[in-house]
Amino acid sequence: MNVEHFFPDNIKVALQKTPPGAWMAKLPEECIRLSSGYPEPALVPAEEIKKAADLLIEEEQDLPLHYLGSPRLAGLKKLIQARLEKRGMKVQEDEVLITAGACQAIDLIARTLLDEKAVVAVESPTYMEALEIFQNYTNQIITIPIDEHGLQTDVFAAQLAERKQSGLTLPNFLYTIPTFQNPTGTTLVPARRKHLLELADEFDFLILEDDAYGELSFNESPQPLKAMDTNGRVFYVGSLSKVVAPGMRIGWIAGIAQFISAFEWFKKDLDHPFAQSTMAAYLENVDFEKRLASLQKAYRKKCYTLIHSLEQYFPEPITWYVPEGGYFVWVKIPGVDTSHMLEQALSMGVSYVPGKYFFFNQQEGTEFLRLSFSYADEEEIVKGIQKLGQLFSSIM
Ligand SMILES: Cc1ncc(COP(=O)(O)O)c(C=O)c1O
Repeated sequence: MNVEHFFPDNIKVALQKTPPGAWMAKLPEECIRLSSGYPEPALVPAEEIKKAADLLIEEEQDLPLHYLGSPRLAGLKKLIQARLEKRGMKVQEDEVLITAGACQAIDLIARTLLDEKAVVAVESPTYMEALEIFQNYTNQIITIPIDEHGLQTDVFAAQLAERKQSGLTLPNFLYTIPTFQNPTGTTLVPARRKHLLELADEFDFLILEDDAYGELSFNESPQPLKAMDTNGRVFYVGSLSKVVAPGMRIGWIAGIAQFISAFEWFKKDLDHPFAQSTMAAYLENVDFEKRLASLQKAYRKKCYTLIHSLEQYFPEPITWYVPEGGYFVWVKIPGVDTSHMLEQALSMGVSYVPGKYFFFNQQEGTEFLRLSFSYADEEEIVKGIQKLGQLFSSIM
């Protein structure tokens, strides 16, 4: 059957682009996965989640399996509010919307605020799923470079001023991952956080703050933009994927009530009562601060193992940023197109993500690659970096 004519024009255009997930290479068996931004399997609390699900069914029988779900659904929101308060964000019940992970949160915000005439500003590089989401709604994407201190707010200020002077549309919102960014691992310094909020006021745009890694600090976590925002310009997106389990699909948006109710309006998945109430039962029974402390310690150790291996095995002039939290290390290999080296790396049994996939203009990212220290164990990390070191030494 010819299906072409069933699609509206904007969808036809979207379907011509690189398919979602094209950046994810097909990995051979036995591959050391330095590409995967997933939690380490041993750090996912499967046993505790099983206990939470058992307890839930024992106490509530069929309730969590209905549309209306369990009384624990309201409890989950309270638990999330309490976590937000710990990070300096005091929000009311109608200022939080629970979503199926941060990805649904980003998609809902995009769906509600963008049309094809809207402009979105993103960091360059940025989280590739978010780039894919925004491009489903608009092609008008402006990019702001990142350095070791995060998004370059001076460059952004100049871009905004120029757009305004030339009568061009200003961004509807900026998508930023200010803390332990994906893919660069960088963290926006406090002075730039302040500057960003001032720019949002001056040029009247909103900020989508994605804080998926914010609780995974190796020392201290900086104050989120949302905690500094006095004018309601920031939507804060959080997730339990990186600190509990991504398969549970629990995330949220915190923002002023007028926006939250608009996002809720367009959220048509009827929630996920079983996953949400199981998560609530899990959180009720876990010392979450203690869990976070042990995750921070484990990922810190793995990060430093990776950094020390880079120092040992990677030849000059390769450079990288040392992160203060999160899952990732961003590496620059001058003069090398890292996407051309991936096949060889995979044949040696190690994976990474070529940097170009994190850029709206992919040719800007050819010399970079993203390494993740989250999924592989320490022994694999050392082995994987040793192999990549051999590969890159052979061509430099
Ligand atoms: C920056 C960032 N935001 C959001 C997500 C997705 O999170 P979730 O599993 O909650 O949808 C990820 C996952 O890799 C991420 O790196």
